Amino acid sequence: MMNKDEVISKTIDFVKTELKGETTGHDWFHTERVWKISLKLTKEEVANPFIVQMVALLHDVDDWKFNNGKDDSNVNKLGSWLKKMALSEEESKQILGIINSLAFKGEGHSSAMETEEGKVVQDADRLDALGAIGIARAFASGQQFGQMIYDPNIKPLVGATKEEYKKQYTGERKNTTLNHFYEKLLLLKDLMNTETAKKMAEGRTIFMQTYLEKFFEEWDVKD
Ligand code: ADP
Ligand code: NI
Repeated sequence: MMNKDEVISKTIDFVKTELKGETTGHDWFHTERVWKISLKLTKEEVANPFIVQMVALLHDVDDWKFNNGKDDSNVNKLGSWLKKMALSEEESKQILGIINSLAFKGEGHSSAMETEEGKVVQDADRLDALGAIGIARAFASGQQFGQMIYDPNIKPLVGATKEEYKKQYTGERKNTTLNHFYEKLLLLKDLMNTETAKKMAEGRTIFMQTYLEKFFEEWDVKD
């Protein structure tokens, strides 16, 4: 039987290989930051650090957005990795359950995390969508979805249902990356589970607001 440290280190190698060369901001370095922030936030919660680390490391190996909005189409990859690691059924179930409820699916459908482990990884993942890195990741992701940087004629969707929100990933709704700030990124600070993440999110959000002010200032060319 493998010990926990071995499982973690093998999982790191697996994820590095899986996410190698990923160009939309879901690369290994994103996962590495989420893993590190998660460990930092774990100090605040009574969470199981092994589960936290496995969830953080594996959270982007399968993602509904990479599969044109089809849920769970890649979930076998994750499941078979957990089998390979010979985890107990209980541990595998915990890890898979948290990863499945992690993804933000629209304003009205932010998944409420029930477990302490889920709460810290959700915060860490959301933090990495904010601030300077968050801005870079948003534009990199936007490129993948074929979005324009900004189009004043395309208004952001406010109070979207899960179905409405998802349409941007299936091509049924044209969106812009600037809209994504208003549809999601600026809302995340109020959805943080832990105090540390809340504080970090506030600073990162102020920075994004300053960025948006500058963006629109430069957009409106004055003579
Ligand atoms: P989470 O991991 O919290 O579910 P997502 O997977 O939705 O978040 O988003 C991961 C990254 O992709 C974030 O940096 C986010 O800003 C970016 N992203 C997701 N959807 C869009 C979009 N429509 N436009 C621009 N960036 C996006
Ligand atoms: Ni992520």
